[in-house]
Amino acid sequence: MGAIETQVTWQYVCKVTEIPVLGARVIERSSEQGGNVAVFRNDRDVVFALLDKCPHKGGPLSQGIVFGERVACPLHNWTIELKSGEAVAPDVGCAKRFPIRVDANDVYIQM
Ligand code: FES
Repeated sequence: MGAIETQVTWQYVCKVTEIPVLGARVIERSSEQGGNVAVFRNDRDVVFALLDKCPHKGGPLSQGIVFGERVACPLHNWTIELKSGEAVAPDVGCAKRFPIRVDANDVYIQM
């Protein structure tokens, strides 16, 4: 009916249990593809995905410490909301987030 169909493709990442608790696993992508993606797991087995690039000066968020639903950047300790990618005030900035889905123990991403 005239609407453009958008194809939603979920790409398999790994098992939830293959992501370190309170840490992350990296999906490597070239800079042409937009750069690496970090897939985080917190202590309640909730999984999040953000571009592995801090909105401050590009620090690798995958190497930060996860607490609750946030990660602390390893470079200058900005705190980033894992759900949205937004920096916690007073810092301002946003890391790109990616839709992520867990089906049983399998993690899928759209990117
Ligand atoms: S690069 Fe992340 S806080 Fe500076």
